[in-house]
Amino acid sequence: MLGADPKGMTMTTLDGARVLVTGGAGFIGSHLVEELLLRRGAAHVRVLDNLRNGTLENLDGVSDDARLAVEVGDICDEDTVDRSLDGVDVVFHLACLGVRHSLHDPFENHRVNAEGTLLLLERARAARTSRFVHVSTSEVFGTAQYAPMDERHPTWPETVYGGSKLAGEAYARAMFRTHGMPTVVARPFNTYGPRSHFEGDSGEVIPRTIVRVLSGLAPLVFGDGEQTRDFTHVTDTVAGLAMLGESDAAVGQTVNLGSGSEITINELCRLVARYAGASELVAQHLEPRPGDVRRLLVDSTVMHGLTGFRTRVGFEEGIAELVAWFRSRPQSPEEMLARIEDRNWSGVPVGV
Ligand SMILES: NC(=O)c1ccc[n+]([C@@H]2O[C@H](COP(=O)([O-])OP(=O)(O)OC[C@H]3O[C@@H](n4cnc5c(N)ncnc54)[C@H](O)[C@@H]3O)[C@@H](O)[C@H]2O)c1
Repeated sequence: MLGADPKGMTMTTLDGARVLVTGGAGFIGSHLVEELLLRRGAAHVRVLDNLRNGTLENLDGVSDDARLAVEVGDICDEDTVDRSLDGVDVVFHLACLGVRHSLHDPFENHRVNAEGTLLLLERARAARTSRFVHVSTSEVFGTAQYAPMDERHPTWPETVYGGSKLAGEAYARAMFRTHGMPTVVARPFNTYGPRSHFEGDSGEVIPRTIVRVLSGLAPLVFGDGEQTRDFTHVTDTVAGLAMLGESDAAVGQTVNLGSGSEITINELCRLVARYAGASELVAQHLEPRPGDVRRLLVDSTVMHGLTGFRTRVGFEEGIAELVAWFRSRPQSPEEMLARIEDRNWSGVPVGV
């Protein structure tokens, strides 16, 4: 499986590989499964997901593919993990519980994100997998102390989620240092696109804003809206993850993955309103959320140097496409709106 890409970077190709994707029925995981099957020529992709926040419908685009197998189970269960790792060359580990979940159930969040990761790493090491890509998050940094943020930026997470993800990535690095296990830590920044969560605990700002605006309601913004994020389209995020799975030079490294452009939440709201044809809807500002990160912006130098990665989908294009995608859902915007929980992170529901 060794080769060289046109720029001379040493690579292990995913073409013909047998891959395990934990969390593969989730938002990013399901796009990664499509990337592996439709664009990277994987021989077999097994998804391990307990469907806590993911759905089998997320895999509809590849459900007829004989190379796909789905194991519904828990990454914290040793037998399930061993069964899922059987015959696997490469692991992409995405299963986790999210940031809002960590506010009301920090212990379960830690158990899945930190202990579940350690179990998976330990069993993958025993199974001698040839590559383990641990998908972490920019939330491990907390608010930017400086920007753009490189891999050496301090890791002072603002939430238990960020802390539990930091523990998971530290374990992945430790497995490389102690045992020479071929792990890579990827730190995606905020990702958006089709199948992103608007509902309940998992709801993200972009899909929630789109659903509200399509329902004729003003976007809700916590704080002054001048907080920024580095939003990356999910097709770019999963292409980057696959590239890290293929880059031999990435083994043992921790790599930031993002677009390198900074967008304020106010700008995001204006764009959504424009592409939804509702520019008259002006954001309603609420109290800031405790623990809300003020600024996130990636420095992609390491990622680019290792893989040549560049994003392909511009933010406006991605938002226009996502508004159209939400319009095409079988559920009405009002039905989706009923599943949104707008909460200040202290747990207080806010008016819709
Ligand atoms: N969405 C983002 O903006 C973003 C940004 C940076 C990093 N990430 C990381 O990417 C990964 C995927 O995130 P996502 O946004 O697709 O979230 P998601 O909730 O859609 O995906 C996570 C999946 O894990 C599954 N899961 C949860 N607990 C499990 C368990 N105990 N056993 C098995 N499966 C379990 C869920 O059912 C879900 O399908 C996560 O590791 C997250 O930290 C996401």
